[in-house]
Amino acid sequence: MLKKVAILSSGSGSNAQALITHFASQDNIEVVFVGSNRASAGVLEKARHSEVHHGHFTKEDLNNGTVLGALEKLEVDWVLLAGFLLRIPIEFCRRYQGRILNIHPSLLPKYGGKGMYGIRTHEAVFQAGEKESGMTIHYVNEHYDDGAVVFQGRVKIDDVTNAQEIADRVLKLEHAYYPRISSELITLDK
Ligand code: GRF
Repeated sequence: MLKKVAILSSGSGSNAQALITHFASQDNIEVVFVGSNRASAGVLEKARHSEVHHGHFTKEDLNNGTVLGALEKLEVDWVLLAGFLLRIPIEFCRRYQGRILNIHPSLLPKYGGKGMYGIRTHEAVFQAGEKESGMTIHYVNEHYDDGAVVFQGRVKIDDVTNAQEIADRVLKLEHAYYPRISSELITLDK
């Protein structure tokens, strides 16, 4: 059965692009919407290039149910957050319970929660002198980085000299695993 997916992102959208590219080769999954809370986000440009329906919305649109309504109208089955920085409202989480995933660039529960995003996460990991980092794919609930963990990919970082090197290694894992793991889960959803 065809499953319709929406991707939400606030940033450059390299993970969103990896998802779009991967799903384009699968006939049971279709990306029907790419949305961002930042009008200038690179992800919208990437969606335009890939000819995927896309749009910008405000924080208020997300919190007052407008975004949820739009996704329901598009008959979206699964929501994938890929570098999306706003908290998902509780009604939204309930509507897509078990069908909304996020990716986080650390081995949760370490280095997660409010304010832990992007290079800030990797700075914290670097300052702590961790020997290993990685990425976490988890279900989303109404708290930041708190839902059940689906998958973690790990990478050694004992030889790095700065946080950016950690970021580069973790991003590679994200691009490799997020499309694969999300696609498996969506395909299992009957
Ligand atoms: C990724 O590290 C993702 O895990 C995090 O934000 C970054 C987004 O990168 N939540 P991109 O926009 O997918 O390039």
